[in-house]
Amino acid sequence: MGAMGRCLGLRSIVLVCVAAAEAAASGPRHAYAAMMSDPVAKSQTMLALPSNMVPSPVTSKGHHCSSLSVTYITRPKLVEVVGGLLGVTKLSSTCAIPYEHSASDAVAANNTRLAKLSSALSSFDQIIDSAQGKKIVLFLDYDGTLSPIVNDPEKAFMSPEMRAAVKNVARFLPTAIVSGRSRDKVFEFVKLKELYYAGSHGMDILVSSTDSQSKTKDDREAKPFQPASEFLPMIIEVNKSLVEATQSIKGANVENNKFCVSVHYRNVDKKDWKLVAELVDNVLKDFPRLKLTTGRKVLEVRPVIDWDKGKAVEFLLQSLRLDDPESVLPIYIGDDRTDEDAFKVLRERNCGYGILVSQVPKETEAFYSLTSPSEVMEFLNSLVRWKEEESPKVHDQE
Ligand SMILES: *[C@@H]1O[C@H](CO)[C@@H](O)[C@H](O)[C@H]1NC(C)=O
Ligand SMILES: *[C@@H]1O[C@H](CO)[C@@H](O)[C@H](O)[C@H]1NC(C)=O
Ligand SMILES: [Mg+2]
Repeated sequence: MGAMGRCLGLRSIVLVCVAAAEAAASGPRHAYAAMMSDPVAKSQTMLALPSNMVPSPVTSKGHHCSSLSVTYITRPKLVEVVGGLLGVTKLSSTCAIPYEHSASDAVAANNTRLAKLSSALSSFDQIIDSAQGKKIVLFLDYDGTLSPIVNDPEKAFMSPEMRAAVKNVARFLPTAIVSGRSRDKVFEFVKLKELYYAGSHGMDILVSSTDSQSKTKDDREAKPFQPASEFLPMIIEVNKSLVEATQSIKGANVENNKFCVSVHYRNVDKKDWKLVAELVDNVLKDFPRLKLTTGRKVLEVRPVIDWDKGKAVEFLLQSLRLDDPESVLPIYIGDDRTDEDAFKVLRERNCGYGILVSQVPKETEAFYSLTSPSEVMEFLNSLVRWKEEESPKVHDQE
């Protein structure tokens, strides 16, 4: 955390501007590395920020000492990022897009940092032991964690059994959904009012502005925290351009996630993937304040602010007054590259566990793993059983 980890107070949110372009240009440009890591976030050079880039202030009350900051970053040469992408697709005929069950996994499996994680199910007792005297807070990604990855992103429904499991566990533990989708969209899928929601990779967070314990209707109407609100018009514009640019590509699907836009290429013929990347690159030339990241068969366009699922987790913990590591054990379950930011936060805070949903070993900051959404459900149900045994009376409470 360094200097930014200092206790900062809400009015003095630190703004820094990172000259990522230079840093990215000076480092090695391995195609695979460019895909596997976001070069923007790694940069260190910091400059002052023009005051017109100040984000909307944090609206939630009751923060403890805040270490949160919003960082504005200049975009690295997108050409390099996309170039990296193209390099890898050229390199391997099996199309090593990160976080797919493909050649990238085989390469990742040989990485030195990679360790085989133990199953969160077989280690359940250990997890529970470390939660003694602490309150568990649950953070759940949606796609690929609660719902299966499907060809049509509009149809990534969660099963009724999964919804019941999430609903049950939320009776006992504060539970938040943290998704790359827009907040509205992910709520349409999950449909549970008793949860907290962070959409657009954490750039749209709804949390009660008063007491975390009482989730009444009034709290539901609380104002969302949207650190990238100034980018809204730009996102609408880039959505339009991306839709137009890719409309001739069969299978390409642009999803507007409010503060970010996804270009899904899962259904695009592999021979056209390169073309999709080029078209996206071309559009982004007109949007220097937007950057590109990659997910599971998806290119994601988002504002160049240093805000991600990890920051969202910190924000939620602080907003809910659950940021005391002595009394709180956060657990974050996710399957995607963007979830690594959250795993990393938990690792660095030295509290709580990241749980990676994956069938194959991957380079990760998580502590445990689960192989599939159905194992996630099993894990949630185990938490419910444990809580029911601990406090059978809780049914009667509201
Ligand atoms: C991983 O390492 C093993 C042995 O060390 C080797 O046989 C295999 O080809 C490597 N896989 C990749 C994808 O590099
Ligand atoms: C994205 O752009 C397309 C094409 O202009 C438009 O039809 C669609 O409504 C836009 N989506 C959003 C959410 O703005
Ligand atoms: Mg996911």
